[in-house]
Amino acid sequence: ATVTDLADRHVVVSAGGTREPLDPVRFLGNRSSGKQGYALAATAAARGARVTLLAANTELPDPAGVDVVRVATAVQLREAALKAAADADAVVMAAAVADFRPAEYATGKIKKVEGQEPAPVALVRNPDILAELAAHRGHPGQIVVGFAAETDQVLANGRAKLARKGCDLLVVNEVGERKVFGGDTNEAVILGADGTDTPVPYGPKDALADAVWDLVAARLP
Ligand code: C5P
Repeated sequence: ATVTDLADRHVVVSAGGTREPLDPVRFLGNRSSGKQGYALAATAAARGARVTLLAANTELPDPAGVDVVRVATAVQLREAALKAAADADAVVMAAAVADFRPAEYATGKIKKVEGQEPAPVALVRNPDILAELAAHRGHPGQIVVGFAAETDQVLANGRAKLARKGCDLLVVNEVGERKVFGGDTNEAVILGADGTDTPVPYGPKDALADAVWDLVAARLP
């Protein structure tokens, strides 16, 4: 049977990883492939939602029937997320957002100078988009979901992060051996602000995506 529990809903999903430019040819980035975010977008569309996918530096084909908005940096992602979230029923931040960006952008390529040490790279903090979205919801009853990769004390760190971010659900991944970036599988625990935790066994990213939407759908007003 086809589940259409997200019909007439607008959901926003971020995917990929931000890139923070140093100069026209260099950036600080991360290894996020965007596959989990794309799985979330595709499964939401399959369940009947109107989907806005905020894609940060991904190289995946656009999922069918999804509005794709391309962004590069955390600042651009923030702008696009606040705009898209204004009328969204749920926002899922699956993108890996750089915590810091270079304090300065060199408009010309940074050059090495013979006999001179390189200048240190100063960093500044990026805005925490998830925390901001959770604190200023587009409309009442909007569900805000975050992701977190943890290496140790997964549940305790996840709970603390959920509280700090103020989101409704936090999908906590244990980063390790077979759970590598870029793969098609994932394993997670989905923590709820209501104290629930839902383990999702090792499996395809689509299955984790559906587990997230099950919990979101149950919380929608
Ligand atoms: O704090 P941490 O980076 O572990 O949190 C991860 C979650 O927060 C992810 O959902 C990510 O998309 C989101 N995030 C964000 N803005 C940042 C950093 C992370 O929205 N600057």
